[in-house]
Amino acid sequence: MDNVLEFRNVSKCYKTHLSIRKGWILRELNLSVKAGEIFGYIGPNGAGKTTTIRLALGILFPNAGSISLFGQPASRVVLKNRIGFLPENPYFYDYLTGEEFLDFYARLLGLNAARRRERIPYLLDLVDLGSRGDRQLRKYSKGMLQRIGLAQAILNEPDLIILDEPLSGLDPMGRRQIRDIILDLRQQGKTIFFSSHILQDAEMICDRIGILDRGRLISIGPLADLLGRETEFWEVTFSGCQVNLAEFQAEMVSNRNGEQMVRLSDEDDLERFLEEIRNQDGKLRSLHSQRATLEDFFLEKVRQGRESGRV
Ligand SMILES: Nc1ncnc2c1ncn2[C@@H]1O[C@H](COP(=O)(O)OP(=O)(O)OP(=O)(O)O)[C@@H](O)[C@H]1O
Ligand SMILES: [Mg+2]
Repeated sequence: MDNVLEFRNVSKCYKTHLSIRKGWILRELNLSVKAGEIFGYIGPNGAGKTTTIRLALGILFPNAGSISLFGQPASRVVLKNRIGFLPENPYFYDYLTGEEFLDFYARLLGLNAARRRERIPYLLDLVDLGSRGDRQLRKYSKGMLQRIGLAQAILNEPDLIILDEPLSGLDPMGRRQIRDIILDLRQQGKTIFFSSHILQDAEMICDRIGILDRGRLISIGPLADLLGRETEFWEVTFSGCQVNLAEFQAEMVSNRNGEQMVRLSDEDDLERFLEEIRNQDGKLRSLHSQRATLEDFFLEKVRQGRESGRV
């Protein structure tokens, strides 16, 4: 599959006149976004997500490394026509109506009158603002503003859509609406790159994720692989015996009314553990295989990165 966006060994620092030391915001970032996928760029506040996006858009330039868009150097201005962008804190002209706002940007992008007449009502419907297009933006709720911003980002049918925190500050209903639109865009063959620290949303819709912490990418891959490979564990509930936990990599989750629940993360350990229960004539009550959530995975990766001193 082709890479739509690619960072190769990209480092970025901002000049800080107060300190001689260079403050690296991104360090040796290697990242690729494939055609037709939804890529979630996840990281805590200040990790460098917006900086990465600014570099991709050509608003900032790297100190080292290279960035390509559609296989060409990202600095080529003509490529900007193929990108749609929703900023983190979009600024809207409050007194324009939703329709006027989209029309204004459509003109800036050079859409002719016929195209604007067809595209604007279509987009208003797509983002579920079909009946509110004649209302001023200052009367829109946060969720409505986020949706009209998304409509603006896809006015000229871009191939790559970059969304900086499109889900932040929205209620569950608003998040769902944006998620559905993103899924719909993928269905149309678009590539979507979005940043977030809302892990559940990424978990629901992303094909692949990258986890960034303090300017370093600490993990990247398809979600199922990341979670499946590293974070499966089992919970065994049993009664009627005492197993010596020190002989296993096991953790007691609960011990109530003679029923114990133990968590094991190693498959061989699990076999031995079950055998031990049988040998002691204990009673197996339940056995569940669990996958850690993206949240567990994320927190663990950040912890590992920081402990190892890599980040
Ligand atoms: N213009 C600037 N000059 C100096 N430092 C900056 C500048 N812009 C951002 N930074 C610093 O770069 C780091 C990364 O910022 P960035 O905005 O990319 O993070 P982020 O992951 O988008 O965070 P958030 O989740 O809060 O939006 C932060 O430590 C921030 O203070
Ligand atoms: Mg940001």
